[in-house]
Amino acid sequence: MENTMNAIKLNDYKKPDYIIDTIYLTFNLHETETKVHSKLVVKRNSPEAKTLILIGEELTLIGLKIDGVLLTSDRYIIHKDTLEIMHVPEKFELEVETIINPLSNKTLDGLYKSGSIFCTQNEPEGFRRITYYIDRPDNMAKFTTKIIANKKLYPILLSNGNPIAKGDLPNGDHFVEWQDPFKKPSYLFALVAGDLGFIKDQYKTISGKNVALEIYCDKGNESKCHHAMESLKKSMKWDEDRFGLEYDLDIYMIVAVDAFNMGAMENKGLNIFNSAYVLANRETATDQNFSGIESVIGHEYFHNWTGNRITCRDWFQLTLKEGLTVYRDQEFSADLNSRFVERINSVQHLRSKQFPEDQGPTSHPIKPDSYIEINNFYTMTIYEKGAEVIRMIETFLGRDGFRKGMDKYFELFDGQAVRTEDFLHAMSVANNNFDFTQFKNWYSQNGTPIIHAQTAYNELKKEFTITLKQELPHNAPKNAKFYHMPIKIGLIDTKGNDIFLEKTILELKEEVHHFTFSGILEKPIASLNRNFSAPVKLITDHSFEDQLFLMANDSDAFNRYEASQVVAKNILQKLILDLQAGKELVLDTRFIEAYGKILDDQKIDEAFKALTMQLPEEGILHQDQKVILFKETHKVCQFVKATLANHFDDKIFNLYSSIKQTGEYKIDAKAMGQRELKTKCFDLMMFVKGEKYHKLAADQFKTATNMTEEIGLLTSLVFSNSTYKDDALAGFYKKWSHETLVMQKWLGVQASSSDDSTYANILKLELNSIYDKTVPNLVRALLGSFGSNFLQINHESGRGYKLMADRIIELDKLNPQVASRFASLFKTYKNIPLNLQTLMGIELKRIIDEKSLSKNVFEIVSKILG
Ligand code: ARG
Ligand code: ZN
Repeated sequence: MENTMNAIKLNDYKKPDYIIDTIYLTFNLHETETKVHSKLVVKRNSPEAKTLILIGEELTLIGLKIDGVLLTSDRYIIHKDTLEIMHVPEKFELEVETIINPLSNKTLDGLYKSGSIFCTQNEPEGFRRITYYIDRPDNMAKFTTKIIANKKLYPILLSNGNPIAKGDLPNGDHFVEWQDPFKKPSYLFALVAGDLGFIKDQYKTISGKNVALEIYCDKGNESKCHHAMESLKKSMKWDEDRFGLEYDLDIYMIVAVDAFNMGAMENKGLNIFNSAYVLANRETATDQNFSGIESVIGHEYFHNWTGNRITCRDWFQLTLKEGLTVYRDQEFSADLNSRFVERINSVQHLRSKQFPEDQGPTSHPIKPDSYIEINNFYTMTIYEKGAEVIRMIETFLGRDGFRKGMDKYFELFDGQAVRTEDFLHAMSVANNNFDFTQFKNWYSQNGTPIIHAQTAYNELKKEFTITLKQELPHNAPKNAKFYHMPIKIGLIDTKGNDIFLEKTILELKEEVHHFTFSGILEKPIASLNRNFSAPVKLITDHSFEDQLFLMANDSDAFNRYEASQVVAKNILQKLILDLQAGKELVLDTRFIEAYGKILDDQKIDEAFKALTMQLPEEGILHQDQKVILFKETHKVCQFVKATLANHFDDKIFNLYSSIKQTGEYKIDAKAMGQRELKTKCFDLMMFVKGEKYHKLAADQFKTATNMTEEIGLLTSLVFSNSTYKDDALAGFYKKWSHETLVMQKWLGVQASSSDDSTYANILKLELNSIYDKTVPNLVRALLGSFGSNFLQINHESGRGYKLMADRIIELDKLNPQVASRFASLFKTYKNIPLNLQTLMGIELKRIIDEKSLSKNVFEIVSKILG
């Protein structure tokens, strides 16, 4: 085991000794014995090389030929995960024949079966489970793929590129041959076979070329593919308009499968998607699902240029394609929907998921310098913080400068496998050699920087000064350097108007910088880090009144929202301390008053009201606690909600009743905002004394005509432990047990309930016939939700930890990627009360002592144990 636990290091990068530039694949598909024949054109790439080393896992080798001649066994050695072929010529044709077993493959990596569909997932290192190959992204080859299978069982046979031949074969077989004209790394290879349903459409590109669009799914789900198709067409149009990027093949295919480790995969011309990001109609999908589909369809489409045409040299460069593509999908969603709602949601997501990752034991820079298992680095940091880093570049260069940099990037690197430095080089060259030297620290250093801001007004000189001080994070690397970042600001006069400023982007580079503004006639209030221009923790000297002023007057919508959150956060943290000190809980009347103003505000739209009404999540509050106070935090959040709900009972009910949705069902920003606000109102109304609104909730639940309201109300009934809860859950099950995506929601709601009955319920739900531990979506819905259920996972008996450890150990044997995601739920280990730490420690040690633990889980748990 030891030598497989070795860390791979960026500094050890060496270009490949040989390059395969052409590959012809033939698959004879069979559930348990698929024969894979591969013919490779191999060329020496480094002068001294004599031995060809190919990578392969779980393969049975049955034949090996060089230039048509069978190799004798003294010419090669089969190691556990490699095939070594000695004394190879400078240029040759290699034929490799192997057998694989897709049916027994539960890792969902390589070729496997999802239900009745054959499909693949090869990023980052799945291709080595299909055939022996130079399975690394800097080996780019032209792929031709022939698929042979039983025609009745598998009438549809798909791979990358364009179909070039097809025909019938003896014994009821048939074949289709595909060719991808673009060179690509093996991680972008895909194959799909099955008796699939589909919808078709087309798109005329900006230069007038017609592209066939096809979305495949299980038969019966075709009618749920239309939103995905619309999203695809919008993505194609948006990339032409915003970045001048046109699609480059004649066909674009998307396949939805139920068993998938991640969200989706950008395989050239043949995306494979988790069905949760394709299938939707108003009865089965929430507004959040609709938005998620639009953004993931966009994300994978945008990868065609940022990822596929220009790919990564090695996996340390992952953020090169992922950070950039997340930035692109965020901009896509912002241009199509409400820009500030999208921005607030992205920042909320970053703070609740990436910030804790970055302050915990698995913290890593967006460009890591070492890993044991690369699958553990498909993280919030690489993706979401990576996108923030790209956004800072855009803030520095402006939208036009950024576009010029993107054009330059494609001009210089199209068709190549490159590094993040190459991206910055293109940005710099296109923008008067903008100096990114210090900015690169964002790529190499981990942790969330803290910015302390102080302001001072000089009455005599009419000068206003903002002093910004950087504090490096507690877990920064030893020789960490200060960051270069853009802080977007505004100064607001007493009437609430922005004072005109020459420059609104402050460039912070030093530890401390004083920015002075002259000709400021009266003391302004500073609005800092507008639009969250730098991904930092900001600590200001604003008073409670200043925050209320910003909430009411800031022209920057993000900062208006932000002020509401800062106010609430301070109030909640103070109450948590009060509770801990045994004091009686009393909610600050100034806060109650401010909250009432939000409810009354006629100027703000529904979506914004819903956002500002929401109190900071418990997880956000935990981040500021040295020792996390799970119970106290939960209790205080419940107390504040109950106080507000009872104080504003009528106001909230009237607000709820005033939202009129008539006419056709829409999924635009307005309609979604209205539904979100209704959900937020009910969330509070459930706290009004005497279960006053519970019957209403139960009635509305029964008559709901869309999933957003239906699941919103079910959640309210479950979380409030309402007397109507059991009926509602049973009714929902009866109505939806045939729809796995809906059942995932049903499992998720129950596993998230903070009630003490949840633990026993989890055990019961695992036995339900709709549950299947080999399908990641179901496992995530049940156990993933339980793992984020702060009160129950951290139960003082230790039963939550034990259950999770049992499941991690069991899952690790099936699907190490999923097991390892669950292992990271224990990342709070060093920050929890001692009694819990002891209990969690026992389970962590039990996991790490397991024989034949995967690299995936080993890497995470060993980091947690430190
Ligand atoms: N490149 C895919 C995306 O971001 C993610 C694939 C990750 N897969 C994995 N097994 N780690 O769209
Ligand atoms: Zn991606």
